[in-house]
Amino acid sequence: MSRSAHPAGPRHADVLTEGHYSAPPSDLNALDPKVWAHTVTRTDDGVVSVGGVEVTTLAEEFGTPAYFLDESDFRARARAWRTAFGHDADVFYAGKAFLSRAVVRWLYEEGLNLDVCSGGELVTALSAGMPADRIAFHGNNKSAEEITAAVRAGVGRIVLDSFQEIVRVAHIAHSLGTRQRVQLRVTVGVEAHTHEFIATAHEDQKFGIALADGQAAEAVRRALSLDGLELVGIHSHIGSQIFDMAGFEVAARRVVALLAAVRDEHGVELPEIDLGGGLGIAYTSDDDPREPHEIAKALSEIVSRECEAAKLRTPRISVEPGRAIVGPTAFTLYEVGTIKPLEGLRTYVSVDGGMSDNIRTALYDAEYSVALVSRTSDAEPMLVRVVGKHCESGDIVVKDAFLPSDLAPGDLLAVPATGAYCRSMASNYNHALRPPVVAVNDGEARVIVRRETEDDLLRLDVG
Ligand code: LLP
Repeated sequence: MSRSAHPAGPRHADVLTEGHYSAPPSDLNALDPKVWAHTVTRTDDGVVSVGGVEVTTLAEEFGTPAYFLDESDFRARARAWRTAFGHDADVFYAGKAFLSRAVVRWLYEEGLNLDVCSGGELVTALSAGMPADRIAFHGNNKSAEEITAAVRAGVGRIVLDSFQEIVRVAHIAHSLGTRQRVQLRVTVGVEAHTHEFIATAHEDQKFGIALADGQAAEAVRRALSLDGLELVGIHSHIGSQIFDMAGFEVAARRVVALLAAVRDEHGVELPEIDLGGGLGIAYTSDDDPREPHEIAKALSEIVSRECEAAKLRTPRISVEPGRAIVGPTAFTLYEVGTIKPLEGLRTYVSVDGGMSDNIRTALYDAEYSVALVSRTSDAEPMLVRVVGKHCESGDIVVKDAFLPSDLAPGDLLAVPATGAYCRSMASNYNHALRPPVVAVNDGEARVIVRRETEDDLLRLDVG
């Protein structure tokens, strides 16, 4: 087929040397349920809808770019984690993935707890009515103000991340006349198979206290000796976007070994272990994520087995999924602005957002899918790179994908699986206005985080 048949650019995968697509999908109008929120479907008129509302209506009412979040899907995923872990375990949703007051209320109603990692997340959680005892406070360098706020609020636990913090939290709790429940975060020496920036349990990184060379045992000694602290458990988080269960199993085994060592040395059986978050999701059809019940079964079996072998009472397990709950529940809706075909290479499709609403492609080389959602098309597939409007050539939203070759300015594109670490990592680069998050449910859409305005930008600029 001649190139001229495809004026908007080349259609062949033979020009593609990187990325995961080797050939165009057989039907560009199809929506793979693996990467789209549960209620996303293409209606008879060809327009995609979520929660019963068509994207064309959503774009008219709320503008683009915008994140649309399927509330019933969020609740269903939260419930699936809760049910999978049952009553002998706790699920702490990791607020860093995406946090807003509506989300906090949904979590509360679905029986989940909440992991926060800054004063800002703490204040959001408390202001939405999450009971403090269901909140865990994380971070490798919590400020004295943050620790004080957490202790004052009565958070259920603070996860201690360093030797300095053991003393700081003990001192603050003591001076407030209380004893703070704490866990100790250890690095178990597992290399998680994920991007270097989101792997956290090998020793050469900033988080936690190493199990190796007796550091963690020493930290336990100190924590147990201080009045202001009630050490209730050990915490491990090995990384993020992980598909392989082996890392979690090694971590569980090593954490239980530390519990046994603590029992042997101090005669104390710590009652809790937290095995962190990190379960991967499908960003493209190539990804095959594990289900919550699979991870629940694997973790509880290994912890029970190891505890039995060490003659320990089985501790209460907790986990901290963020991405696996919120990631698949949202997509970002963009409008196509300009289209630039590069003969023999690819077609650049510029949308009205970019690295300010999704930094993950630039930062981690993350792969995403994309679909034309305002209509169907029978045109030939063309190889595209979806880029943003920022003054930076690395401003890529979707590196390699196929879209119909009759794509035109004004068409709406949606990028699925942007619920986690997109709005929460959004920036004002180039003084972009951060997009809103709109929850859609049962035919109704409502803004849960509003779009930034130029007034918001100017309000901070007080010079
Ligand atoms: N618990 C702790 C202690 C964590 O540090 C994290 C993530 C989680 C739980 C939740 O992990 P999840 O289930 O969401 O994978 N910005 C990166 C991810 C950084 C994750 C940081 N910690 C990304 O966009 O991939």
